[in-house]
Amino acid sequence: MNEVITIDGPSASGKTSVAKLVAQRLGIPYISSGLLYRAVALMCLLENVSAEEIEKRLPKHRLELQPTPTQNLVFLDGHEVSEALHSLEVDQVVSAVAVRPAIREYVNQVLRRIPPPFVVDGRDMGSTVFPQARYKFYLTATPEVRAQRRVPERGAAFDTVLSEIIRRDEADKHQSAPARDAIILDTSYLDLDGVVQRVLEHIHP
Ligand code: C5P
Repeated sequence: MNEVITIDGPSASGKTSVAKLVAQRLGIPYISSGLLYRAVALMCLLENVSAEEIEKRLPKHRLELQPTPTQNLVFLDGHEVSEALHSLEVDQVVSAVAVRPAIREYVNQVLRRIPPPFVVDGRDMGSTVFPQARYKFYLTATPEVRAQRRVPERGAAFDTVLSEIIRRDEADKHQSAPARDAIILDTSYLDLDGVVQRVLEHIHP
C-alpha cells in the first residue's frame, strides 16, 4: 500500500484516535496535521506575539514533524515541543493562526514533503492538501458528544470544553468542509473500534 488516506473532521470528532488505529492496522505511519497549526500557535504564546506577527517570523523558525509508530513528535527549532501542544491556551490561539492563508501554505508544504504511505488527519486534508488521495473520510459527531470525549484530556469542566468546541467549530468552518468525494461517518453513536471498523471496510490494500 502506497496510499494517502485522509481523515478530516471537526475538533474532538475522534479523527486522531481513528487515524492512529487505522494506520496501525495497515502498518503505515499516521500524521496529525493539527499539530503543526498548534506548534505555530505555541510560537505565538512563547514569543507573546499575534498570529499576524508570527507569520512574518516563520522563515526564522524550523518546524518538523516526525511520525513514529505510536505518536507524532514535533520539533520547533530542534526542541521537542509535542507535550505542550494540547493545552487550553493553545486551543484558544490556534484558530487565529489557522485562518491565515500564508500560515496554511507553510503547514501544507511541511505535510506535502512527507513521503507516502500514511494516514493523515485534519480539516482540509481531503479537500485541499491531498485532493488526489484514494481514500477520504470525514468524521462528524454532535458538539456535546465531542465535548464529553475531550473533558478527560483537558481536565476542564464540561461547559468550558463545550463552549470552546462550539467557538472553534465557528472559527474553523471555512477550512473544514468535507471533500466532495469523502465518505462521511457520523461517530456520535459509535465507539472507537466501531469507527475504525467502518473506515477499514472501505480500504482495499
Ligand atoms: O485537529 P486539532 O484539534 O489538533 O487542530 C487544531 C486546530 O488546527 C484546529 O482547531 C484548526 O484551527 C486547525 N487545523 C486546520 N486545518 C487542519 C488541521 C487543523 O485549520 N488541517
